[in-house]
Parts: sequence; structure tokens; C-alpha cells
Amino acid sequence: MSLSQLARSIAESPTLKLNETAALLREKGEPVIHLGGGEPKSKTPMDAILSCTSVLNTGDVKYTPADGIPALKKAIIRYTEEHYGRLVAPENVIVSSGAKQSIMVLLHTILDPKDEVVFPSPYWVSYPEMVKLAGGVPVVAHPKDGSFQPTIEDIAEVVGSYTKAIILNSPNNPSGVVYSKEFIAQVVEFCEKKSLYLIMDDTYNRLIFDGQTPTNCYEYAKDLTESSKLIVVNCVSKMYAMTGFRIGWAVANKQVVRAMTNIQSQETSGPATPSQWAAVGALNGIQSSIQALRMTLENNRNVMVARLNAIPGVKVTKPGGTFYCFPDFSAYNKESQKLAQFLLDKVRVVTVPGKEFGREGHLRLSYCGTLGEIKQGIERIQWAIDPNSANELYIGGRKLVRDWA
Ligand SMILES: Cc1ncc(COP(=O)(O)O)c(C=O)c1O
Repeated sequence: MSLSQLARSIAESPTLKLNETAALLREKGEPVIHLGGGEPKSKTPMDAILSCTSVLNTGDVKYTPADGIPALKKAIIRYTEEHYGRLVAPENVIVSSGAKQSIMVLLHTILDPKDEVVFPSPYWVSYPEMVKLAGGVPVVAHPKDGSFQPTIEDIAEVVGSYTKAIILNSPNNPSGVVYSKEFIAQVVEFCEKKSLYLIMDDTYNRLIFDGQTPTNCYEYAKDLTESSKLIVVNCVSKMYAMTGFRIGWAVANKQVVRAMTNIQSQETSGPATPSQWAAVGALNGIQSSIQALRMTLENNRNVMVARLNAIPGVKVTKPGGTFYCFPDFSAYNKESQKLAQFLLDKVRVVTVPGKEFGREGHLRLSYCGTLGEIKQGIERIQWAIDPNSANELYIGGRKLVRDWA
């Protein structure tokens, strides 16, 4: 079969692949624990359901403007004012089918062939592939001290004449780390000085713990004029547990939004109409579900971190947000893909190999499931990797015997 060079250069999304593997195993009745997932368990907020069903009930579900319905743009403008203290115009907002599409369309909008896009490691799995899809070159900034908290020096070191944009994602998928406000301020200043686009992927911005306040990149921007190259991406996917609705958005200067709209209008047209109305309901409705989700996740995080810390040799950086933890298992196995496969084969626990996020030796574990899943999942992992564990373990009524070293 002759596929394009581009198609052959793009890797399958490892997280989606894992979901499929887990679903297949579950169908076969295997007692799988999924610590690989990227979506909260909670239900869609009622305000979103009501708003969505009211448009469905009319039976009048038609195309919308390619950049989103006015009611959703209005809700996003209000959200931006409330959470970022910034008043933007409808022409500064584009609604897409998820934050993923917003970023993808944005990269198509700003990149010429061979332009480089810099992001720190660990990074969201999709950034390198999305940059490649848009014809660009992904460039990873590895924090020198090996931590998950990059510095401006780490970034500056890999920025060159081909650099077009920097992407920051804080709180970070996969580490859960919240970048320091000082770092974000430095990157904002750096990008303004070098005239680089700065894409702030704020997908998890509302899911932060320990009483921290989300970082507002606009606070550090000197240039908030129409030529500002600061772009903020958000979505309803994680904060409202509405992953399946596929609604995200970008706030950018009008020229960028206009160009993004042209591209999106040719690629997909506007996002699905019922989903846009669901997002209107979520953004304008009662916000208590976010607080409830945050509290659940914070508690889950505490349990997961405590259990992981009890495994000898496993190094854990406490996540300050998201629903991911990114422990270092290199004392047991430096090859994360092999370790993830081993855990799936032996104890039916799904994890995501750190290699996919630019860090070998780590595994990404999600704590968006139930406390029972978290406790059992870590117990199984410990049993599988710790040579001092008991000889037998019961999972799903089945006896496992440790027949490996
Ligand atoms: C950092 C980051 N950005 C963007 C997205 C995509 O969000 P959406 O589901 O709205 O496309 C994800 C989803 O996992 C993510 O982790």
C-alpha cells in the first residue's frame, strides 16, 4: 500500500491504543485496572445536558459558524474575563472540536515547513506528532536538573533561528507539576522579546490542588495589543469531565483567529452543534462540579502518592494538579515500554510508558478512577516489581504466583 510520507511518520496515539487494549481484555472478562486513562469518572454537569438536549429536542440541528456559535463565544469571553481578568472580543475566540483540534489548527496557521516548536519534557504525547503533522519540527527542552520543572535557560538553550513557537502545559500532563509563576513570567517575556508565539495549553488549569491559584499568563504580558502572539487554549473536556463532547477553544489575536477559522472551515466546519450547546450549559451553569472533581482528585492523588512512596526505589514527584502522576521506576526497569507491557501481562494493570512523554524509566499513572482502583492498582504493581513481595496474589478471584525474579 502506498501511504504518504507524512502518514508513515506519525505514531499512533499510545493512550488511545491502551484504551483499546484494556477494553478488549475487559471484554474477555480479565480483571483489568486502568491507570492509563485520561478522563475523569464523574458525569456531565446537568446544566450541560439540559442545554444540549434542548437543542436536540427542537430537531433543528444545523451547521454553525466555523468558529463557533455566538452563545458559546459569549460564555468563553465571560470565562476568560473571570479566570484571566482579560476582556476579549468574539473575533479573538475560536471554538474547535476539543483542545486538540484548536492546537492542531493553530499549528497549521502559524507554521511554515521546517519551523521549530519548542516544548519542555515531559510533554503531552501529542505535541511532537501534531507539530510534524503541521509540517514543523518538534524540539524538546530537557530540564538540565532532570526535574519536571523547566527553567528559562532550558528553553533558551534550544531556541534558535528556526523557532516559531513555544508550548507550555501547566499543570502538566504527564507529571502533574504546576510550573512556577516565575518560570511562566520569564517565558512570556522571552517570547515577547524574540517575537515567538507562546501557546499556553491550560487544559488542566482549574484542576490544581493544595489551595494553589492557577497561573494567569496574561498577568506577565507587556504586549496585550492586537499583535500579541500569546495564545491560550482551554476546553471543557477535563474540568467538566466532558471529554466525549469534543469542545475546546483558543483565544488569540484576531488575525490568527481569522486564519484558524479559514483552515477549520475547510477541514471540519464548526464543531458539532449539540456539543457546543452543552459547553454553553457547562460554562454558564452551576460550577460546583469542578470543585467536587478537584477535591476528589486531590484525595486520590494523596492516596496514590502515599502508596507509591511505600514502594522501595520508586521516586515520586508530588503532582500539584491534573489527574496524573509520573513516578520514576528506573530502579526496577529503565525501559518503560517493557515495564508497562509486563504490568499489563502479569497483573492486568494499564499504565502509559514514560518514553511516550519524553522520559524513559517513568510510567504515567492516572488517579481519575476510584480509590479502590488506585489502591488495588498500586498494590498489584508493587507485588509485580518488588522482589520482596509475597509469592501469591489474588486478583479478580484468580490466584497469581510469582514465577519471575
Ligand atoms: C495537555 C493536553 N492538552 C490537550 C488535550 C486535548 O484535550 P481535548 O480532549 O479537549 O481535545 C489533552 C488531552 O488529553 C491534554 O492532556
